[in-house]
Amino acid sequence: MTTPPTDFNDRMLSLGLARVSEAAALASALLIGHGDEKAADQAAVNAMRDQLNKLDIQGVVVIGEGERDEAPMLYIGEEVGTGQGPAVDIALDPLEGTTLTAKDMPNALTVIAMGPRGSMLHAPDVYMDKLAIGPGYPEGLVSLEQSPSERVRLLAAAKNCTTSDITVCILERPRHEDLIREIRETGAAIRLITDGDVAGAMHVAEETTGIDMYMGAGGAPEGVLAAAALKCMGGQMWGRLMFRNDDERARAAKAGIEDLDRIYALDDMVTEHVIFAATGVTDGSILPGIKREVGYLTAETILMRSKTGSVRRMRYRNPIRFSPQPRYAPTS
Ligand code: FBP
Repeated sequence: MTTPPTDFNDRMLSLGLARVSEAAALASALLIGHGDEKAADQAAVNAMRDQLNKLDIQGVVVIGEGERDEAPMLYIGEEVGTGQGPAVDIALDPLEGTTLTAKDMPNALTVIAMGPRGSMLHAPDVYMDKLAIGPGYPEGLVSLEQSPSERVRLLAAAKNCTTSDITVCILERPRHEDLIREIRETGAAIRLITDGDVAGAMHVAEETTGIDMYMGAGGAPEGVLAAAALKCMGGQMWGRLMFRNDDERARAAKAGIEDLDRIYALDDMVTEHVIFAATGVTDGSILPGIKREVGYLTAETILMRSKTGSVRRMRYRNPIRFSPQPRYAPTS
């Protein structure tokens, strides 16, 4: 038996990562539109974990389903893989957009990133104020220290267009009312999303989405996943952790974070080259969702490597070999 290589061979590992992402999406597909968020998430978690444990890696989940006492599987610190091969860190969200999936609304994805040990910020489960723009702009053109309207004006000037030509993507939440009002006053358009800010931030890197900038507060773990995606796709991103109480500050301390006010640039959140895979669950502007036809499910995965900047889109048609009874039965 040959021993798997122990260096982070991103090229070889990437196909395995795509399989992990695909498997999670296919498992949750059976629960799209069934109104059961927990069951859809559990199906994705089970499938993602099964597939991860087939990879020749010494993996540790650094961004996962939660703390060990809250999440029995894919919790932060869980060791995954066969235990042979490179020591890697894994950031994952087996189902980003559980509500979107349960309600069959756009932009639900399965998401996973992998890098060498120590390559990704161990973000606690708190909110993060996020700002992202696409590739091709001067470094540091916009920042979290500027007002939202100033960011819009600076981006418009750099694009050589007016502020009314700019579209900003924001999570629709009461906490964003002032942000939305201020941006609307500049004349910019806003695309509101109800959930799924990993896809929200990824929008800025694909011109066809029509989105120029992402702003607002969402999950910090999702912030690191978005940073991993943009490190591969190109673009700039910043994040600042937000704390509402001592419990959240304690979570940060546990994750080893000392400076609570720090603004993290993309390369502070993801410090080395990583690979990233996401598979569409429901139709979205980044990826089509799972398609069903008699006897088959088809999934599309975006697979990327930051070292090369390569973005690969893979379609996978999977014969349905199981009975009409779903393998991952919804919980009652
Ligand atoms: P889930 O997939 O866990 O439901 O999270 C979806 C999401 O919309 C994330 O994309 C986002 O970062 C976060 O929830 C926002 O949190 P909140 O719903 O508390 O505003």
